Amino acid sequence: MSMMVIQRVIDFIRQQAGIVLTPEKAYFVEARLAPVLREENIASLEEMLKRAEGGDRRLHQRMVDALTTNETFFFRDRQPFDHFRDVIMPELHQRRSPEKTIRIWCAACSSGQEPYSLVMILDELRSKIGNRQVEIVATDISEAILSKARSGIFNQFEVQRGLPTKLLLQYFTKQGENWKLSDDVIRRVNFQKFNLLEEPRHLGHFDAVFCRNVLIYFDRPTRSKVFDRIAGRLAPDGFLLLGGAESTFGVTERFVSHARERMLLIPAPVQKPEIRAVSA
Ligand SMILES: C[S@@+](CC[C@H](N)C(=O)[O-])C[C@H]1O[C@@H](n2cnc3c(N)ncnc32)[C@H](O)[C@@H]1O
Repeated sequence: MSMMVIQRVIDFIRQQAGIVLTPEKAYFVEARLAPVLREENIASLEEMLKRAEGGDRRLHQRMVDALTTNETFFFRDRQPFDHFRDVIMPELHQRRSPEKTIRIWCAACSSGQEPYSLVMILDELRSKIGNRQVEIVATDISEAILSKARSGIFNQFEVQRGLPTKLLLQYFTKQGENWKLSDDVIRRVNFQKFNLLEEPRHLGHFDAVFCRNVLIYFDRPTRSKVFDRIAGRLAPDGFLLLGGAESTFGVTERFVSHARERMLLIPAPVQKPEIRAVSA
């Protein structure tokens, strides 16, 4: 495969999704797109690019789906979920009036294990938060992964990653080789397609944002823009959770660490403009 065509694919995914791939990733590009070429019966990568860039929206989406990395699992890294149960929900529940819905955004939710883990924690918290309404909005750029998330169907390997057996038996039923999550849990997550390179205003305001293991794929200016947009959607006393390899350090000053939990971020206090006395 010519390096020039590979470079055009690299430019394509950077422009469309912000994902930075280096030319050494040629093998990755070829391996990810080969099945699409085969299934779509397209002779070459060049031809596929021409069609996707020439207005074939379906093919365009298939390329984005193929070039995104959807690695995820239930209760990934554990600590953010402990923070959700032990700090975020108790603090928000205490501060918000009882009729207020608490809104959570999972900003790159992949196949849904992250938002579904949050629903399970909310059930665990029921005795503490009573009938408090909580809305979970879960977004991703990949339509293919969102439709898997909405199906609630996971294979044996997926349910063995991070999900305690007790919760597997409580929430899933065996369906052939796979496991199907209960419709009640699926219904409690509002999945929507959303590209983090775009303005999220239409999603509304949130009390907590999980934006985990996606910023690692972006360059620094893109990360900085995404942080700005998240800050614009987040309540001044809200929370932001990143992946274990992600940080705001050197990228944005819009967030600071929570007083007790270093990995938990909160919006930086807004600086009031300095008022100087003007002498006549
Ligand atoms: C590695 S997964 C992380 C999933 C989950 N947050 C976790 O930590 O387990 C990264 C997800 O980000 C999504 N993604 C990549 N670029 C994106 C973009 N520009 N906008 C929205 N989602 C994007 C991918 O489709 C993928 O599902």
